[in-house]
Amino acid sequence: MCGIVGYIGKRKAYPILIKGLHRLEYRGYDSAGVALINPDGQLNVYKAKGKVAELEAFAADKDISGTIGIAHTRWATHGEPNTVNAHPHYSESERLAIIHNGIIENYAVLKAGLQGEGYSFKSDTDTEVLVQLIEYTQINQHVDLKTAVQLALQQVIGAYAIAVLDKEHPDTLVVARKGSPLVVGIGENEYFLASDATPIVEYTDRVIYIDDEEVVSLRIGEDVDITTIGNVQKTPEIKRLELSLSQLEKGGYPHFMLKEIFEQPRTLTDSMRGRVNVRQDNIALSGFIDNKERFLNAKRIIITACGTSWHAGLIAMYAIEEFAQIPVEVEYSSEFRYRKPVIHKDDVVIAISQSGETADTLAAIQLAKEKGAFIFSICNVVGASIPRVSDSGCYTHVGPEIGVASTKAFTAQVTALTMLALCIGREKGTISREKYLDIVRELGQIPDKIERVLGQNKRIADFAKTFTYAQNFIYLGRGYNFPVAMEGALKLKEISYIHAEGYPAAEMKHGPIALISQEMPVVVVAPRCGTYEKVISNIQEIKARKGRVIAIVTEGDELVSRIADYVIEVPATEECLTPLLTVIPLQLLAYHIAVVKGCDVDQPRNLAKSVTVE
Ligand code: AGP
Repeated sequence: MCGIVGYIGKRKAYPILIKGLHRLEYRGYDSAGVALINPDGQLNVYKAKGKVAELEAFAADKDISGTIGIAHTRWATHGEPNTVNAHPHYSESERLAIIHNGIIENYAVLKAGLQGEGYSFKSDTDTEVLVQLIEYTQINQHVDLKTAVQLALQQVIGAYAIAVLDKEHPDTLVVARKGSPLVVGIGENEYFLASDATPIVEYTDRVIYIDDEEVVSLRIGEDVDITTIGNVQKTPEIKRLELSLSQLEKGGYPHFMLKEIFEQPRTLTDSMRGRVNVRQDNIALSGFIDNKERFLNAKRIIITACGTSWHAGLIAMYAIEEFAQIPVEVEYSSEFRYRKPVIHKDDVVIAISQSGETADTLAAIQLAKEKGAFIFSICNVVGASIPRVSDSGCYTHVGPEIGVASTKAFTAQVTALTMLALCIGREKGTISREKYLDIVRELGQIPDKIERVLGQNKRIADFAKTFTYAQNFIYLGRGYNFPVAMEGALKLKEISYIHAEGYPAAEMKHGPIALISQEMPVVVVAPRCGTYEKVISNIQEIKARKGRVIAIVTEGDELVSRIADYVIEVPATEECLTPLLTVIPLQLLAYHIAVVKGCDVDQPRNLAKSVTVE
């Protein structure tokens, strides 16, 4: 995780770096720091524990001059989150400063070697080892900074996106990447760099996505120079950014999460644009059309993802098995990559990731690729690592998701996967023309129906206050709405710090029912569909034990409304599309409970938006 940002050019670097850090704060906020070379050639490093605002306060009376600098916002891996472990880190002589996103796995061995050479270490971080190694190489092999970075990285096992400053060369910034994202922005005689394009977008729309094992030298007055760590020259590929500044602002909402929840009618329209035709009788996914045979010949589909994206994968399992009749396995990427899975050449692996940078998912698909499987990815961030290593895929196009709790990305993932299931089913002939048309038409109605659910925001905010006392919540659902129950529980845990469990409703009597008491709120996702009657029985069982039931039901429902304590209605829709509606009140419920509890909704403790470490 961690966010890195850098600038070299003619402007004052500090304001650009601080603004960039605020944009990247979603990637980690344990500590922040900045390094600047001032006009007298001094290399100043300032760091503070906590958020970027703490760094600004600390640096307020310091020398923040300079037109070259690097900055970092940290999500701690090695070493506790304090000022000493904050980045940037100096080298032994304080000639160099480095920022790093990733993990140097063999840092202990490297550190011991450097200690043997008389190097001392101030922090507990793996990053300090790297900057010392670069300086050691620079001095002992009499090479320039870029070569020292190349040689040092040849000894490193692990993941990194780094930027290094050398006060002896204040016209050069050297950056490199392996496994962690890095984008370079090209301005007029100036360069920007960052973990993603959000700190760059207001200065330039010309960017280069740096590839693994590339080392880049950014020098005033010269073109971008890219080589591999083995010194093979590469040709920079300049891309145009499709990102606007307004997408990065809160637009009048108190939190990004609320803005993103309310954006869903529009983001789902964007996800379907150009895919569901205007007559609403056909879906065309180019990633599927171009690789039809791989899907039609697949004996099995393996879905791999983490967190919320894994929940979207579970919903896709129901849809793909129902409409395409291909067996589906849904795997946590972190388990899949290490459990020696059996993967065949005719398997299709679908990777789901909002960020496209999740380390475990990236490793899972690399493993599947090595075994010859076809990799199809569902991602949101264009140009991220996962879509780049996939054989094909489908972008969700919801724009930047900044709130750490994923909301609009989830509904777009479910939409994209449902469209994929329908495309495969239609092509295989495993779904009837009527059913296909019913669902495609209904997909077109979903944005308006979500709008109707959002209309209940005020009510949900009001009754959310009733539940802030709770220490625990249970969420129940069945079929397509079992993953929704897990997603609702995850939302509540991550932003309100209330413990919550999502269960298939029928499993309750095999254990969790022991927890039910009048203290225990139970959220039951009970739209009118296949297992509706069964879920009513489950609600009766909870009420018989005095549990307090919040039910998500279909508009006009009378049966559940009679027995539940609180009811939130969603419009009727096709069963496979109910998750797109039922998840909305759960997102709002978690949001309002967290707000009433005074939690930091957009940046919950210990979390980061994209998990680029194992
Ligand atoms: C969800 O609210 C999360 N913060 C988290 O579970 C997330 O979905 C997970 O880390 C996967 O991220 P990705 O979609 O970017 O791969």
